[in-house]
Amino acid sequence: MAKPILKTIGLSKTFETNGSKVQALSRVNLEVMRGDFLAIMGPSGSGKTTLLTLLGCLDKPTTGRVLLGSTGLNVTAIPEAALYRIRRKNLGFIFQNFNLLPSLTALENVELPMEGLIKSAKRRRKRARVLLRMLEMSHREKHKPPQLSAGEQQRVAIARALANGPALILADEPTGNLDWETSVSIVNMMRKLATEQKRTIIMVTHDPHMSSFASRKLFIRDGKLLKEDPVYDEALRFSP
Ligand SMILES: Nc1ncnc2c1ncn2[C@@H]1O[C@H](COP(=O)(O)OP(=O)(O)OP(=O)(O)O)[C@@H](O)[C@H]1O
Ligand SMILES: [Mg+2]
Repeated sequence: MAKPILKTIGLSKTFETNGSKVQALSRVNLEVMRGDFLAIMGPSGSGKTTLLTLLGCLDKPTTGRVLLGSTGLNVTAIPEAALYRIRRKNLGFIFQNFNLLPSLTALENVELPMEGLIKSAKRRRKRARVLLRMLEMSHREKHKPPQLSAGEQQRVAIARALANGPALILADEPTGNLDWETSVSIVNMMRKLATEQKRTIIMVTHDPHMSSFASRKLFIRDGKLLKEDPVYDEALRFSP
């Protein structure tokens, strides 16, 4: 039987601020397979970003474990310096605000994560060009982010997330700042990455219509992961 590419066991996160505690995630057990396109939905403050942050090895859980790759590498136990390398090789991140560097061109933004992993500048450039072509952004490769539309910036950000060929892509509200039509085209591209390239995608979204592009849906409420959620189920029934 195929092994999950990502697994969490009893993942919990408690934040402590000025003496008061917030349990942002509560005993989350999750298994994600290669090529899954998983949508995570839930109300504001329910723990979605916290979950992605832990899955992306950007923070450590209070208790529980994250196991990465088919070998089930326990990333929770790995020191930060080694984690940085694991993140760069295996994970791609896409954010609501694109997070591109405004002073670099689209091409340079995509090249940046390859530095240190691909030694030849020529090869980095070639690969960045291939990725921008795939995202239909070749005609804007010399533009800087402020000269691009929101949808174009997100396409560059997706190309950047793919720079090092990650098996797992984590996207936090990737369509949160985009209009409906652009959102559909972006989510369609993400679906293709899962179906055609067998990349695993975990996308947080508020939008029931965007989640309908995913192969699996999960819900978070008060830090707990649910297979179904009555409020969202209702919304999904009425989404176009
Ligand atoms: N660094 C932090 N320190 C303290 N509390 C935090 C921290 N990060 C998140 N929280 C709290 O944890 C809970 C979950 O936050 P999280 O950002 O994961 O929610 P979310 O589901 O992503 O919400 P949204 O849809 O608004 O982005 C919230 O109550 C939040 O206030
Ligand atoms: Mg969030």
